[in-house]
Amino acid sequence: MFRGNYDNITPHRIMVNDWYRTSKYEESISKCIKEGDTVIDYGAGSGILSYMAIKYGAKKVYAIERNYKTARFLRHNIKKANLEDKIEVFVGDAASFIYKNDIVKIDVVISECIGDHLFENKMIYDFYNLCDHYRVGRQIPDNMSLCMFPHLIGLKNNTRHEFVDFDSDIISEFPIDVAYFENNSDEKEFYYKLNHKIRHHDENVLFKLSWKYDLNDGLLEKKVKGFGRKGFIMLYFYVELFDKVFFTNHPSRPKTGTHSYFQRIVPYYEGDINIKINPLYDQRGNEGSPCQNIVL
Ligand SMILES: C[S@@+](CC[C@H](N)C(=O)[O-])C[C@H]1O[C@@H](n2cnc3c(N)ncnc32)[C@H](O)[C@@H]1O
Repeated sequence: MFRGNYDNITPHRIMVNDWYRTSKYEESISKCIKEGDTVIDYGAGSGILSYMAIKYGAKKVYAIERNYKTARFLRHNIKKANLEDKIEVFVGDAASFIYKNDIVKIDVVISECIGDHLFENKMIYDFYNLCDHYRVGRQIPDNMSLCMFPHLIGLKNNTRHEFVDFDSDIISEFPIDVAYFENNSDEKEFYYKLNHKIRHHDENVLFKLSWKYDLNDGLLEKKVKGFGRKGFIMLYFYVELFDKVFFTNHPSRPKTGTHSYFQRIVPYYEGDINIKINPLYDQRGNEGSPCQNIVL
């Protein structure tokens, strides 16, 4: 879950250093992995989750990564950690992994496919395919929800603030199709002001995905009652990683960490909102402009 491309070390370093994200994954992996498990880490990146799986008892991890530049970096990390006999790198996607291997038993599939990539590069679809193909008993994440912030968000320099839920400017550029909160290391940011005002609720959930069939091989569609005034809508995720370990990029998430603050901010004009998602959308190298498959 990162804004930018994955083919250099920086984004991976930032992801690993995002304490909130990384510790949530570690907590869920520690609960999920059993001694002697065989594991797939789908979209392995730096290999941090593969490493954790070994740490908590897995005997073998297949680390799948389709970006060949990232895979070089991944191999380097595995060698440095002396884990070459336990973590095997596969360069490609889920379909080619299944096609090129005759592995019969996988106990757990782990994937960091939430955030930006819940809705692009068909990663979530591939993840469920892997779970389905190997009939895994355990998976991380367990279920994933796309949610909508319950109020309309205003524009920067809109002095009237009539449809703004808080007392500060909020968005740095206009117009934009997809935007992020940025520079959120500072308590004064409106990001933190939102944090105190509105919490995540189940009624914010637009789509809850808990198995491949939820995706239904086609468009996901949902109609939501409109706000009647123009502004921006914030989309965020709320995920159960494993056994009551939750992870979200809702503004009320802990402020530690650096990158998993990003939410989708989509312009809204008027009328009811029809949200459509294409779970099969895939465009390599589009990590810098995620969620291209969300249409309002
Ligand atoms: C969000 S990063 C997570 C990296 C690492 N697992 C972590 O938690 O730090 C997602 C990774 O998945 C890779 N990826 C994206 N789409 C993929 C696909 N369809 N098949 C395999 N890898 C993919 C990206 O190149 C990136 O390295």
